[in-house]
Amino acid sequence: MKSPDFLYIANWKMQLHFEKALSFCWEHKEEFEQLSASKKHHIILCPSFDALHLVAQLFKDSSLSVGAQTCSKHKIGAYTGEVSAASLSQVGCEFCIVGHSERRIYFGETDNDVSLKTGQLLENGLHPIICVGETQEERKQGKTEEVVARQVHAVCQSIKQKNPNSEFCIAYEPVWAIGTEVFPSNKDIEVVLKHIQKIIADFLPEASVSLIYGGSVNAESAKNIKQVSLIKGFLIGGASFDFQKFEKIVT
Ligand code: PGA
Repeated sequence: MKSPDFLYIANWKMQLHFEKALSFCWEHKEEFEQLSASKKHHIILCPSFDALHLVAQLFKDSSLSVGAQTCSKHKIGAYTGEVSAASLSQVGCEFCIVGHSERRIYFGETDNDVSLKTGQLLENGLHPIICVGETQEERKQGKTEEVVARQVHAVCQSIKQKNPNSEFCIAYEPVWAIGTEVFPSNKDIEVVLKHIQKIIADFLPEASVSLIYGGSVNAESAKNIKQVSLIKGFLIGGASFDFQKFEKIVT
């Protein structure tokens, strides 16, 4: 990772089709570059696969980075429709989100899949942004820490095997907080991040992990959640493809 500074990761999901993603970048190119020029911020744009190469080209002379939203768990082969981590690296991606709850819920991604994807990313020199978080039901049952620990342990194994010194992010995203404008308290976030920090310290003492938060981040909630001492960044969905909203979060 380029800097130890605060990460603002824009997850555009499938909200901007190819033309919109590019026109959004062209329209705000200078503003994005100005925003990312600050040493305090590291901005990472995550468009869908189709736009990755051109967005990476567009920002290649700035300190802004580009990330994918998922990758294949396989290295190479007859896997129709899949995109390998090697390809992502070749088109200019430095980061890749894995294990987002939308992938886990709608596409049946398991902890083991997330672990294999993480391994592929590390083998190809990309920084994984690993999403973890409990559902509303799991929270009600008091299982938040158990679920998050299971998800984190699953990736620790492959990180240890592939590169115990790697630099990666863990995004705590309570599933019930995504796109809902409902937030955990700062205390709740802190408890979960401490738990994650401890697991990483035990399993991967050499690794460099940035703990980030995601779920309905907007200018107001960002200001508040930033007070959680362990927070090193935000994964932003809905507010990331409206430039004014995104800018307010960053500045
Ligand atoms: P949201 O999405 O900011 O719209 O809640 C965050 C995410 O899904 O990563």
